[in-house]
Order: sequence, then C-alpha cells, then structure tokens
Amino acid sequence: MSAEFQSLEILVDNQATGGLVAEHGLSMLINVGGKKLLFDAGQNDALEQNTKALGVNLMHIDAFALSHGHYDHTGAVDFVLQENPEVAVYAHPKIFSQRFSIYPGKAPKEISMPAEERLIVGNLPDSHLHWIREPKQITDNVWLTGPIPRFQTLEDTGGPFFIDPEGKIPDPIEDDMAMWIETPKGLLVVCGCCHSGLINTLNHIVAVSGQKRIWGIVGGLHLKNASKQRLETTANVLRTYNPELMVPCHCTGESAITYFKENLNSEIRTGYAGYKLKAE
Ligand SMILES: [Fe+2]
Ligand SMILES: [Fe+2]
Repeated sequence: MSAEFQSLEILVDNQATGGLVAEHGLSMLINVGGKKLLFDAGQNDALEQNTKALGVNLMHIDAFALSHGHYDHTGAVDFVLQENPEVAVYAHPKIFSQRFSIYPGKAPKEISMPAEERLIVGNLPDSHLHWIREPKQITDNVWLTGPIPRFQTLEDTGGPFFIDPEGKIPDPIEDDMAMWIETPKGLLVVCGCCHSGLINTLNHIVAVSGQKRIWGIVGGLHLKNASKQRLETTANVLRTYNPELMVPCHCTGESAITYFKENLNSEIRTGYAGYKLKAE
C-alpha cells in the first residue's frame, strides 16, 4: 500500500453533526498509508461516544499524539489507553505542567491535564512513551514539530494562561506542537490549539520540512482574543503560503473564521465532529 495520506476525520470538536456528541475539546483520526494516528483525545466522553457512533475502533491505531497538556485535549487519554494499551504515545514532557486560566474578576480555573490521565501516561513503559523535544518523523510522511520557536511578536498563547493560581507566572505552553503530513498536494498542517501562534507554527514547519507548499491547515487556531493587527498579519502570511484549504475548528473563534473567509482566497470550511477530509 502506498504510504500516502488517505483521510483525516474530526472525532471530537466543539460542534458536531449527524448525532455525534459535541464538547469543548478536540480529537482527530488520521489515516496515512494504512497507518492510523490519533491526534488528541477531547475533554470528556465525546471520544468514546463518537468513536462508537462512527464505528472507529481505537484498538487499531498505531500512534497517539498529544498536542499539549490542556484538559480539553487529554481528558479521554484513559479511554484511548484502555482500548489500546500497546499504542505508541507521543508528547512533550511539559504536558504534565499544572496550569490555570485566570480572567479578571473570576476565580482561577485549573486547565491542566487531569491527574488520572497524568498518572496513566507517567506510568507508561519507556518503550511506549516517546517524548518529543524536537521535530520528529513518527511514520511515513508524518511529522511532529516538537516545541515551536516564538519569533512573531504579535502572537501570544491566546489567553490568560498561568502556571500558578495567583497568576504571577505566565504559562508559555512550551509543550504545544503541531503535526504535518507530506501529501502530493503539499503539506497538511494539523494543529491542536496552536498556542505557539499560526505564523510561528507555519514558518517552523516550512523551515524544518524544507517544503513551502501548504495544501491545508486543520484544527484549533486559538484566535478568539486576537487583535485586528494580529489577524491582518496572520492573513498576510497565509496569503503568501496560499493553502488550498483551511478547516478551522475548536478554539479558533467565530470572528477569526469570518475574517479569514472574507480576506483569503483559500477554501475555508468550519470543522466539526464528523467532518472528514479525504485525499482525492
Ligand atoms: Fe483546546
Ligand atoms: Fe489549549
């Protein structure tokens, strides 16, 4: 079988169709050359319910990558590893960080990976747990970025994120990473929350892969708090890469999606649980 990209299916998202469950979270199933990769695990039980509804059996996945250690991407790690205790897990060690979001006038909200999930991942044998500290190829045509350098000063992590409940120490979300897949049409970039910023993420992937052609961008882009200037600059950079397709979802934010639809030539389809992108 050729090792080419076959499909990407959103299993969990803030929006859903076809009787699937929606929750604030993200999980995607990617099929490349007969290998199945799970990217993130949603927040609660949407992954379990939606995989059942879609007839997806996680027993058959070959790799499981965590984009970062926020609760809405790691909540069903226990379910994934129950279904498939042998799967190879990929993540950055900072997924275990304690972290909070603190909005003015509101109590700090803990947004860490849940303690139970931390314990399960922490107890995995070395042979199953692969720490990603730099760009790494995980199967034919599929790469993980590892930590993404933050050169673009307009980009921040996208929210009031801290590693202490007092809100004194900002959380750089160093563990944030994206995936890219080499396809005959160009790179398919897959983001979890894109806390490193979309410009930083794309520039890093292009620099590391040595390929400038981006076919598509799928995932959470965390732009709901982005300034007009940041959106304009992001759109300018997107115009230079000129992806054929964008599937923003999860934490991207309505206003950013509308802005891209109005200002880019790329085809932009808002993602949802049940959405499937296939290689034509
Ligand atoms: Fe998220
Ligand atoms: Fe996040």
